[in-house]
Amino acid sequence: SYNGLALTPPMGFNDWQHYRCDITEQTILSNATALVTTGLARHGYNYVNVDDCWMASQRDADGVLQANPATFPHGIGWLAGQVHRLGLKFGIYQDGGYRTCGGFPGMYGHIQQDADTFASWGVDFLKLDYCNQPTDQYPGDSPAQVAKIVYAEVSRALLSTHRPIVFSESAPAYFCCTGPNFTDIMSWVGDTGNLWRFGDDIQPSWSSILTNYREDNTPGLAAHAGPGRWNDADMLLAGTAGTTPTEQQSQFSLWAELASPLLLSADLGSLSPQTIAMLSNQDVLAVDQDPLGAQGTIVHSDADADVLAKPLANGDAAIALFNKSATARNISTSAGNAGGYRLTDLWSHQTTETTGTISADVPAHGVALYRVHRSKASWPPPSVAIVPDVSGTRVTIG
Ligand code: DGJ
Repeated sequence: SYNGLALTPPMGFNDWQHYRCDITEQTILSNATALVTTGLARHGYNYVNVDDCWMASQRDADGVLQANPATFPHGIGWLAGQVHRLGLKFGIYQDGGYRTCGGFPGMYGHIQQDADTFASWGVDFLKLDYCNQPTDQYPGDSPAQVAKIVYAEVSRALLSTHRPIVFSESAPAYFCCTGPNFTDIMSWVGDTGNLWRFGDDIQPSWSSILTNYREDNTPGLAAHAGPGRWNDADMLLAGTAGTTPTEQQSQFSLWAELASPLLLSADLGSLSPQTIAMLSNQDVLAVDQDPLGAQGTIVHSDADADVLAKPLANGDAAIALFNKSATARNISTSAGNAGGYRLTDLWSHQTTETTGTISADVPAHGVALYRVHRSKASWPPPSVAIVPDVSGTRVTIG
């Protein structure tokens, strides 16, 4: 990681998906408090990130950014202090262009000044969006090259403050998903930032979960992930309307398999005990937060089901059986045969022995998630053999 930060995927809260521009300092503080009272903070959800629309419409006379005095009357430095007093970290949002997506003053032309302002406020995390791009300032450079210049400059400005600030880059999302732009952008995002958005903005629907899941499985993307550098599949929908509890659990399982940041966006004070328990599943969190930092990939796919595999630091593997279809089905896969494996179902917490087959009845839109305890097999496997099977899919790994 370029700054030594975010060696595992960042976890916490971001207001955007649930609240959009309807935020005040009270919204942020009540969600920060709920992270503590629900126990989620103890499980690692420790960033409290404010997204777009926190600013006043103009900078002050010295060019310094100001909070909207009506919604954030105490200012951002005060708010960051309150969040810190809860034992949490504080994140803010800016944009690398002239204006944010919401139309507030952007960072362009004020890069060092804003970095210094954020550091003086006690900011621990910056999400840099990329609406209203300043392309006309760089004649001859492609939009993707301009993004590289801007993000590198912000990255350096943050380092120069000597405050540890996790850097979240939205630029790749504006150049998604294939072709020369993809190669250009992906060649530098991990050198200037800690996490980056690649796909669409998450919306509260199952189709949006599928879209972002697919985008973050773009071939070649997983190779860019590692400690301090993460593909961010966007916010979790747990605890919001629009998706079922099964779908929310599937998103959480898949995001863990993809080593995505886990940023909640909901009214955390009204989460159900079931949702809190789901988000607190240490076995699933350990897959996401595994220190090897490998992003899981699809090892077999058909129209109805995907099988994903994620190598883990101790030689285990996390295997996900994902039923994309709208009816329940059995999915079966083979984890090879090196004399038998122990297998833990990370949702039921049952451990079983298998000579290779992993099989589950998976509900519609459901995900079964397993840790395969490997004794002597090496990872990655030398080859992946895929044999279709009438009962579902059969995949041989290792
Ligand atoms: C686009 C980003 O992708 C979203 O996550 C959010 O930050 C909005 N902009 C805010 O305007």
